[in-house]
Amino acid sequence: MKISVCGKGGSGKSVLTSLLANQAIARGLSVLVVDSDESNSGLFKMLGFEKPPVPLMELIGGKKKLKEKMRNPNILAQNHLSIKDISSEHIVKKNGLMLVSIGKILHALEGCACPMGVLNREFLKKLRLYNNEIAFIDMEAGVEHFGRGIDEGIDKVLLVVEPSFESITVAEKIKEIASGMDKPVVAVLNKIGSEEIAHELESKLKIKDIETIGLIPNDLFVFEACFKGQSIGNKEAFDAAGKVLDNLLKE
Ligand SMILES: Nc1ncnc2c1ncn2[C@@H]1O[C@H](COP(=O)(O)OP(=O)(O)O)[C@@H](O)[C@H]1O
Ligand SMILES: [Mg+2]
Repeated sequence: MKISVCGKGGSGKSVLTSLLANQAIARGLSVLVVDSDESNSGLFKMLGFEKPPVPLMELIGGKKKLKEKMRNPNILAQNHLSIKDISSEHIVKKNGLMLVSIGKILHALEGCACPMGVLNREFLKKLRLYNNEIAFIDMEAGVEHFGRGIDEGIDKVLLVVEPSFESITVAEKIKEIASGMDKPVVAVLNKIGSEEIAHELESKLKIKDIETIGLIPNDLFVFEACFKGQSIGNKEAFDAAGKVLDNLLKE
């Protein structure tokens, strides 16, 4: 199963991706995390890696070369890819947890992120997983990735929704677009400070036909780990993510 983790910037996509990845590892699954956010680069730290993998973008010669190849849809030579096909410099591994990165915008005037979008789309479409493997795609913020077709190859959209008007608006938009693509959409509430907030947020989503499958509390330890660039691993948030994973795997 390939699950894309989507939502407003700052809603907690990377935090949730990290928690779910660790939960899946604890269940003996082999977990691939795909860093698809070209703007933020701290995911490897949240996952407890010492260094990030070399972005796949470099595999095909960086953005300039890819631009030339964009007219040809077969940018990755094989029709199907499995995790073992990814060469060692482009994947970091630790105890069954694996991370690949599509690419990062590092310099001024690099132009738009479209070439990375093409690579991302092709990679996710071609990626084949075995039964004991699961992939979480830590998506770029907002809805643009849908416009770029990146979500074509994924099986399920996991919305991260924090208690803010903006976050709900982005969630509604994503639901609308993803449903149009026949992709199932479920939501996880994040940064939840009280039961009242949880209920209110859940019912706002329900009105839009968005099912909530779990919540992660607003947690000072999570906040601190993010602040210090450390791995996200405290028990309360981890346990909460366990329930989310149960529901994800059940459906
Ligand atoms: N459950 C949580 N409890 C407390 N703070 C959180 C929680 N989830 C996220 N945060 C805060 O929100 C910030 C953004 O989270 P992050 O996962 O990086 O968002 P995104 O990947 O969606 O941009 C974190 O740096 C952290 O300060
Ligand atoms: Mg992020």
